[in-house]
Amino acid sequence: MKSKHFVSLGDLSRDDIWTFLDTAKQLKLEHKTGHSQHLLKDKTLAMIFQKPSLRTRVSFEVGMTHLGGHAIYLTPSDIQLGKRETTEDIAKVLSRYCDGIMARVFGHEILEELAKHSDVPVINGLSDREHPCQILGDLLTVWEKKQRIEGLKLAWIGDGNNVCHSWLQAAPKLGMSVSVACPKGFEPDDKIVEYAEKFGPKVEVVHNAEEAVSKANVLYTDVWASMGQEEVAEQKKGSFKGFRITKELLKQANPDAIVMHCLPAHYDEEIAYEVAHGPQGVIFDEAENRLHAQKAIMALLMQ
Ligand code: CP
Ligand code: NVA
Repeated sequence: MKSKHFVSLGDLSRDDIWTFLDTAKQLKLEHKTGHSQHLLKDKTLAMIFQKPSLRTRVSFEVGMTHLGGHAIYLTPSDIQLGKRETTEDIAKVLSRYCDGIMARVFGHEILEELAKHSDVPVINGLSDREHPCQILGDLLTVWEKKQRIEGLKLAWIGDGNNVCHSWLQAAPKLGMSVSVACPKGFEPDDKIVEYAEKFGPKVEVVHNAEEAVSKANVLYTDVWASMGQEEVAEQKKGSFKGFRITKELLKQANPDAIVMHCLPAHYDEEIAYEVAHGPQGVIFDEAENRLHAQKAIMALLMQ
């Protein structure tokens, strides 16, 4: 693998992503059959959080426990990234104590700065721009549910945000087409769309949810206002009304489509409760697969 870090799916080749997925599948099987190995015995992961978390925090910590190591949770007030001391010094100090650094940050450049100065692997636990751990777990879920990834169509409904960006960086590379439906003004980053278009499968950005879900095998949505956008949340609601996953919208997709959401969800906004919790919803499999996918990342990078 070219990169020792896991900061962006844009840094990884198709083969790299498959190596993570194969390892995740294997580790999941070992865990379910009681054959887990302590691959990271006595190793420590530092977890830096500038934003709240349920899944990321708990799944990384549990993952380190399964692998025989330990994780340290650093709250925003503990280290005050960039305020109390520089990101460079934090990376250098943590590298002397720990075997890996996972960080959830606002600016993506903070992760790049951590990676630049860290001697140990840096893992992106979400930035304003990308959420690669989420998409690795989601790809594992799609693979399990559909027995393949190549040839499927993903319909992204909603904000062209960090989770959408990571999908665009990975899905076409693995042979999936992507149709993003978002309100005007909320499109994903042009450069990431251009990157996604290089791999062959169709990539499109449209402004109509029905158009995007036609023939889709996977429907995906996320909150309309991400963490850090609280001030514009009310204002965004008006623009996003036609971009909800409802029972009616789901009927227009492939009949065996699965419905995904990274969570946390707002059931009165981007997705209807009965769809997310219904027979086609796979939201809790996704949440579980964060654990297995991240164990693969840590096992492959931190051993
Ligand atoms: N999906 C996700 O990253 O959840 P948390 O924000 O709870 O970590
Ligand atoms: N787009 C969301 C994802 C949360 C897991 C956010 O950044 O808040």
